[in-house]
Amino acid sequence: MIKKILAIETSCDDTSVAVVTGQGEVLSLVSRAQDLEHEPYGGIVPEIASRNHTSALIPLLEEALEQAGGLEWSDIEGLAVTNRPGLIGALIVGVITAKSLAQSLNLPLIGINHLEGHLLAPFLRDSEFSPPEDFNYPYIGLAISGGHTSLYRIQGLGDYQILGTTKDDAAGEAFDKFSKMAGLGFPGGVRVDHCARTGNSKAYDFPRSMLHDDSLDMSFSGLKSAAQRLMADLGPVKTKEVLPDLCASYQEAIVDVLLAKLSRAAKRCQMKKIILTGGVSANSRLRERGLLLAQANKYQLVIPPLRYCTDNAAMIGYAGILRLNRGERHSMSLSPSPQVWDGDFQK
Ligand code: KG4
Ligand code: ZN
Repeated sequence: MIKKILAIETSCDDTSVAVVTGQGEVLSLVSRAQDLEHEPYGGIVPEIASRNHTSALIPLLEEALEQAGGLEWSDIEGLAVTNRPGLIGALIVGVITAKSLAQSLNLPLIGINHLEGHLLAPFLRDSEFSPPEDFNYPYIGLAISGGHTSLYRIQGLGDYQILGTTKDDAAGEAFDKFSKMAGLGFPGGVRVDHCARTGNSKAYDFPRSMLHDDSLDMSFSGLKSAAQRLMADLGPVKTKEVLPDLCASYQEAIVDVLLAKLSRAAKRCQMKKIILTGGVSANSRLRERGLLLAQANKYQLVIPPLRYCTDNAAMIGYAGILRLNRGERHSMSLSPSPQVWDGDFQK
């Protein structure tokens, strides 16, 4: 059995390295965000992301070993790397580094689906967080990030059924685009969240697309267009004046849709265990209303702490060590892929 794994995550704009055990204990997690580098462009520039991964990754490898209690490379027994889905240039940096390490240190290697990492994040533990003792499969997961918004039934390691997904924009994208339109800049979600705190969520009535649709699919592009029209009608001066109300109302519409679909999925699958994961689960209103929803329905809701919700290598390491310990390996032909692989999810 492999006891300690080192994991690398470079699928988007966070460079992250972690050392994790088979019990999900995070011995170290070190990350470098690139918000400052992308901010002038109002969004993530893939080429800039790749270049920053290249310069950030090697020092982070050493730092991860150091922070895990001064480990040596000889203490590491396996390597995991996000190899799909993501920005291809960004993924290449992580995959090539992991393959070089695996080759030179003669360590087993496994490529991990980034979304699987998010879905297993509730199992991570450290000195400040551990999941409830009785938390285990099966559960319903809502993975909400800048690139993905999907509902899954998680039956066990590698057994993930897609129950519903956004038909257009991801929820994080809806936050980011709104932020850009409203002049709040990048990164969007956290700025909208912050601005909304002093606003009235009932001030503006934004559409909740597909809310009453029987399916578990979602849509957020209509919401974005409605916000664009409203801001054009209000004009720049008034928009600025009522920005907290706009942010709160817009955010409420997203939260309404996400929680309605999550709740519907739990009821349909007759499951009481639910999780929120991915960068958008950092949203304070979503967390607050998620807890209320759980109380009202007696759901066991697990929302990992922010360091495990946003992109991080610890979740990749946990998925990786579980897979290595059940005998899975990838060869030196492991390639990065912008899409998930056939078979990653059941329909
Ligand atoms: O999972 P993640 O770190 O990276 C991706 O895989 O996309 O998620 C990033 C997304 C961004 O769209 C960002 O705006 C959003 O998560 N986000 C938030 C908040 N913090 C991050 N959205 C709403 N409220 C927040 N507090
Ligand atoms: Zn992510």
